[in-house]
Amino acid sequence: MKGIICYCSGSGNTELACRYIAGKLKNIEFDLFDIMAGSIPDLEKYDVVGFAAFTNFMSVPYIVRTFIGKLPQQNNMPAFVFNTYGFVSGKTLSILDKLVTEKGFLVMAGHSLHTPESYPPMIVRGMGNQQAPNVKEMSKFNDFIHGLDQVLHAGGELNRKNIFPGFINYLMPAFSVTKAREDMGEKYVDEALCTECGLCGKLCPYEAIECSPKPVFDMNICYGCWRCFNHCPVKAIYTKKFRGRGHYPQPISQLEEKLKV
Ligand SMILES: Cc1cc2nc3c(=O)[nH]c(=O)nc-3n(C[C@H](O)[C@H](O)[C@H](O)COP(=O)(O)O)c2cc1C
Ligand code: SF4
Ligand code: SF4
Repeated sequence: MKGIICYCSGSGNTELACRYIAGKLKNIEFDLFDIMAGSIPDLEKYDVVGFAAFTNFMSVPYIVRTFIGKLPQQNNMPAFVFNTYGFVSGKTLSILDKLVTEKGFLVMAGHSLHTPESYPPMIVRGMGNQQAPNVKEMSKFNDFIHGLDQVLHAGGELNRKNIFPGFINYLMPAFSVTKAREDMGEKYVDEALCTECGLCGKLCPYEAIECSPKPVFDMNICYGCWRCFNHCPVKAIYTKKFRGRGHYPQPISQLEEKLKV
């Protein structure tokens, strides 16, 4: 049996969690596919597909919607959905489930994992949740992986699982796809700090940055993912409210330790 996990990860938490899932599902060989890289995988050679994303304003990042939209229509290809979140997931898992199901995948399992925050405004407010996931959350994550393993090896007919993300998440509002952009607002570059390395332009998932050689932002196609802000090696990118603090360029060591396979 061969699987693929298509993941969307701005700062690496979700990618790390996907590597953990793949490592724990010993009897299935998984390829990992980075949705932000911009291409479309050939799903025909796989028996199961995982879809994973970080929570972006209590929903799935816009690029995940467009990615799923471009996939060919399926006929009950087995799938699972997964997301990481820093505070509250809201509609993320339900929306992911809906998008994937509408594409013809048969969703057999789903899970949300609490992780440290990658959203700078939360980190600046002291709500980085560096301790996440706690022991109970880690145990539930392992139960999910174990359940998935059992479902995939039970043989016979696979069934759809109804994904219910919990009562609190169910009550959360659904934000528009442009909410994160509006919230982030204009981005600026500290020209004295910028080394013209071009990294922000390469990492922007929406091609909203042109480095010529200093970055210029196209606000019409920016989706406020904070990736440029988080990853600039010299912290040269800033907004009206956030400058020089709150960056989350990669998973913190505590999370790496917990998700070591
Ligand atoms: C732009 C943005 C919006 C976010 N919105 C939410 C949110 O609504 N709820 C939440 O719990 N976490 C939110 N987060 C936190 C991330 O979902 C969480 O830290 C996740 O693990 C990051 O995964 P990644 O490192 O794979 O990108 C947000 C992060 C970013 C960058
Ligand atoms: S990543 Fe930072 S230093 Fe590099 S071009 Fe962008 S703003 Fe300049
Ligand atoms: S410009 Fe920055 S915040 Fe906007 S989409 Fe690109 S990487 Fe994300």
